[in-house]
Amino acid sequence: MRVCIVGAGAAGLCAARHLLIEPCVTELDVLEQSSQLGGTWVYTETVGYDDFGLPIHTSMYKSLRTNLPKEIMGFPDFPIPESERSYLPAKDMLAFLQLYAEKHGVSEHVKFKHHVQLIIPKQGATAELWDVTYKDLMTGVTTTKEYDYVFVCNGHYNTPFIPNIPGLKEFEGDVMHSHDYRVPDIFKGKQVLVIGAGPSGMDIALEITSMTEKVILSHHLKEQPRSVFPSNLTQKPDVEKLEGRTAYFKDGSQEEIDVVFLSTGYLYNFPFLHESCNIVVEDNCVEPLYKHLVNIQHPTMCFIGVPYYVCAFSMFDLQVRYYVRSMNGTFKLPSRQEMTRHWEQEKSERASRGYTRRQAHMMGPDQEKYYASLATEAGTESIPSVITKIREESSLRFLHNLQNYRQDVYKIIDDDTYEIISNGKREILC
Ligand SMILES: Cc1cc2nc3c(=O)[nH]c(=O)nc-3n(C[C@H](O)[C@H](O)[C@H](O)COP(=O)(O)OP(=O)(O)OC[C@H]3O[C@@H](n4cnc5c(N)ncnc54)[C@H](O)[C@@H]3O)c2cc1C
Ligand SMILES: *[C@@H]1O[C@H](CO)[C@@H](O)[C@H](O)[C@H]1NC(C)=O
Ligand SMILES: *[C@@H]1O[C@H](CO)[C@@H](O)[C@H](O)[C@H]1NC(C)=O
Repeated sequence: MRVCIVGAGAAGLCAARHLLIEPCVTELDVLEQSSQLGGTWVYTETVGYDDFGLPIHTSMYKSLRTNLPKEIMGFPDFPIPESERSYLPAKDMLAFLQLYAEKHGVSEHVKFKHHVQLIIPKQGATAELWDVTYKDLMTGVTTTKEYDYVFVCNGHYNTPFIPNIPGLKEFEGDVMHSHDYRVPDIFKGKQVLVIGAGPSGMDIALEITSMTEKVILSHHLKEQPRSVFPSNLTQKPDVEKLEGRTAYFKDGSQEEIDVVFLSTGYLYNFPFLHESCNIVVEDNCVEPLYKHLVNIQHPTMCFIGVPYYVCAFSMFDLQVRYYVRSMNGTFKLPSRQEMTRHWEQEKSERASRGYTRRQAHMMGPDQEKYYASLATEAGTESIPSVITKIREESSLRFLHNLQNYRQDVYKIIDDDTYEIISNGKREILC
């Protein structure tokens, strides 16, 4: 089998790591548009476009520390090395991914500065085959190569989602998305409205209070954060409209602002998939995918890393183990019809619990069930529940103790139990 992996971020590296030890794989190419591995975890000061005219992929900002403890961020067979702290700076995560790639001999298989331009099911072939067209950015030469399997691992924190706020296009100040944020200095003396209270929005709102006397954080979190914010950071509900330089909020209040800073998340984007791949993204729902992973119309194509609010690297590893087992005959994927029925059922079940279409791939409380369903079907190990337990605990502490939660230190005791040292106090939890 000849396999093509798009992207050398954590997901692509993990796919390569498992495929390299698989006897049925005879040829493996990891195509990576940038000059180094690590994807999201590569920090660059550059925003906009790179030297080859491609949009800058990374959304990493300079001060970033992980929002989850390293104890749950490693791979099941390759944990992050022990160190004093649990929450690591981005450069440590990048170093970790480099170590992982080296240890498993992945780097030799990565074609850097190779941009995937088109993936299309091979015309007229009897079996399902793929034609992958990529451009060597150094020479400008474009090649089309045939593969038996395609792993789509291009990440989904790169294409900004711009919400539909009345007056945003006509706003007279600056508008910026967190994808382009690097350092707080640009906001010196400005009055900034941050929209969105995800991990980036919260961190960045807090960080820019060092530069300006007025930061407004607009959000619709269901659970009101109990975190103590600096006096120059005010919380507001959603924005109703923008007019001139004024923001009007849903509670009837208004504020004068210089900058609208959108921390409103990202869109799934697969610009290289030809429409005959039959993958449609609408309202941020990627379909039809079986178990958020297998292209139902063309099951020799899979997508690693689509679900969010997950333990990312552990999930990538499980998704890859699942899919490789379907490739090598450990189990057989259900028929297209059955996979379709499964996905339709999952969609209506999610809808009945109030999930919107935009939340099609949101896991959070559904994680354990999702992991178990992959593991059971493929006969492979699931993710220990201690990992999801720590994730829940850490997320609560993020919300309610934003300024200090990154000082907590975690230690895994066994598959169900962990220890947390917070503020000098030690607790055992399970
Ligand atoms: C600011 C920020 C902070 C985060 N913090 C955390 C955290 O603390 N904990 C956590 O678990 N997760 C965090 N995440 C999520 C993080 O993105 C995932 O953990 C994970 O690194 C994603 O890996 P990936 O391989 O799916 O995608 P990416 O890391 O985005 O890698 C995709 C790769 O594909 C390449 N590529 C894309 N298109 C093409 C193409 N057409 N041709 C060739 N190559 C292509 C890109 O260059 C890139 O190298 C964070 C994300 C962001 C944006
Ligand atoms: C904003 O408030 C915080 C704490 O309340 C303070 O440390 C910071 O200096 C203030 N920022 C400015 C620009 O005054
Ligand atoms: C298939 O892959 C799995 C996971 O890599 C491995 O454990 C198993 O031995 C493989 N089976 C065959 C028949 O190669």
